[in-house]
Amino acid sequence: MCGIIGYVGHRPAVPVVVEGLERLEYRGYDSAGVAWEQLGQLHVLRAKGKLSALKEKLADSPAVTATCAMGHTRWATHGVPAERNAHPHLANDGTLALVHNGIIENYQELKTELAALGYEFHSETDTEVLVNLIAERRKTEPDLLHAFAQALREAHGAYAVCLLDVAEPDTLLAARMSAPLILGLGTGENFVASDIPAFLPYTRRVVFLEDGEIVRATASEHGIFRLADLTPVEREAQVIQWDMQAAQKDGFRHFMLKEIFEQPRVITDGLAGRVAHPGDGVVLPEIAQLPVPKRLHVVACGTSYHAGLWGRHLLEAWAGIPVQVEIASEFRYREKPRFGEGEMGLVISQSGETADTLAALRLMKEQGLPVLGLCNVVGSSIAREADAVFFTQAGPEISVASTKAMCSQMLSLALMALHWSERTGALDAAARKERIGLLQSLPALLDDHLPQMHKTARELALKYAQAANFFYLGRGHCFPLALEGALKLKELSYIHAEGYAAGEMKHGPIALIDPAFPTFALALDDALFPKVKSNIEEVQARQGKVIALTNPGMELATDDVWRIPYLPAPLAAFAALPALQLFSYEVADYLGKDVDQPRNLAKSVTVE
Ligand code: G6P
Repeated sequence: MCGIIGYVGHRPAVPVVVEGLERLEYRGYDSAGVAWEQLGQLHVLRAKGKLSALKEKLADSPAVTATCAMGHTRWATHGVPAERNAHPHLANDGTLALVHNGIIENYQELKTELAALGYEFHSETDTEVLVNLIAERRKTEPDLLHAFAQALREAHGAYAVCLLDVAEPDTLLAARMSAPLILGLGTGENFVASDIPAFLPYTRRVVFLEDGEIVRATASEHGIFRLADLTPVEREAQVIQWDMQAAQKDGFRHFMLKEIFEQPRVITDGLAGRVAHPGDGVVLPEIAQLPVPKRLHVVACGTSYHAGLWGRHLLEAWAGIPVQVEIASEFRYREKPRFGEGEMGLVISQSGETADTLAALRLMKEQGLPVLGLCNVVGSSIAREADAVFFTQAGPEISVASTKAMCSQMLSLALMALHWSERTGALDAAARKERIGLLQSLPALLDDHLPQMHKTARELALKYAQAANFFYLGRGHCFPLALEGALKLKELSYIHAEGYAAGEMKHGPIALIDPAFPTFALALDDALFPKVKSNIEEVQARQGKVIALTNPGMELATDDVWRIPYLPAPLAAFAALPALQLFSYEVADYLGKDVDQPRNLAKSVTVE
């Protein structure tokens, strides 16, 4: 995930672009850059690290008078965070500059083709390949618009791009495919950006571009064209009524709600470049070079620990790898026998900075265990210290309670299990193909069902928000979800909630059940359904009220039955997780709690 902005108008463009980047920094912040034209030459200024580093460089540079410029704030996908990989990227001949958010999946093939024609590359990015491809196509196409469209037709993947041409320095060209891009229409000035806040101080009139569309904008005009054949598109501008804070939340009431609704996009991004066609398998360069672990030691905290517990089911069942999952603060102080030959550590951390998880990583390394990091934040301590890193592609998570990060961790674990299953032979090709197809179907399924889930969550929240206690029950792959559901409820609404293995209830906790102590049971359509149903009946026999989260067609006689779309276990978790998150969100919001910043918590726990 990255942020891009382009400006053309009557103001000094670079300060406008840098100010816009400040409001896009939530989309990534491992490097930033700007480009503009002056005296017949394109100028690019880039800096590694947060935007402040770029601002310092700009402050030391002569004033820029250009009234057209573009900028980028990066969240690394191809190539480490470094100045050479920062955007904008220039074509070899210096005539074009490009900023890009997304992934060009076939960039290696395009790079080889261009290298054979003599092009040189100074970064590891797919973006530098694309800008040179546009330059190459310009030689044969009638004009830059045609060359831009032709190059984009050859590029497969996701992108929002903005292009600056030295020959037409007061025109922006931009396009989108599976990545956001919005046109902002001002008076004598126009903008393109990844998100509305980037230009909201200047205009509220916007046009939402759609996939497969190109826009050409000058200070006074704009035109939208279909990428496929360059036919013009007519689209009315809309007037945004949000204020700045609401805009950063995309119109959602809270970051948490926005992030829950981002989960389909998180899955799409996590699959991009790793899975193309279900039959082709899973491409994971991050772990392809490592031997298949004989045993995996998964260590994490909080929600990341729950993702690890869920991942164990797939890693064992699909890849045939024995897995241990442990809380980092326990793992680090436990005296344990030496790790065996061929074993591997896997530390899971959204922030990459959690003190206990980092300490566990260091301990494993000291004891000679190779460690793989599963992180969201590029450049974090865990990402730097692990022997190999797998990035989850969730984009910045702002709400303190983790939501989309867990979804991205689960997806990454599923991809790892599929990758290793190919090498261990634990799954045959047909079974792998079926699972890959299911993963690819998730974004559309969630997009379709999240609004209804949200509605049901709100109705149930009104009914149950007064409870002082809650049980969350699940078995098998639903047990980690029960733990996560309870964690979300307690951290957001301060209602006491316990996640329990449904079969273990009768060994004590069932003593707590009475009419005022409700239970949220995960009773999905899987092999353990009859067992969970019996456990639910045990609760009901003690007058306990039950909400059952289940699938169509499952017979249950509970106080509330919440049906979500069917997916085979363990992938059903991808539909159950947002239901749990939305329920907790709605209870907390109804009770007037500070949803995005619950009391006593921190997003990144850097103390033990
Ligand atoms: C804190 C956060 C949780 C998170 C946990 C682990 O407690 O509030 O949301 O799950 O840390 O964080 P990590 O960044 O290591 O995943």
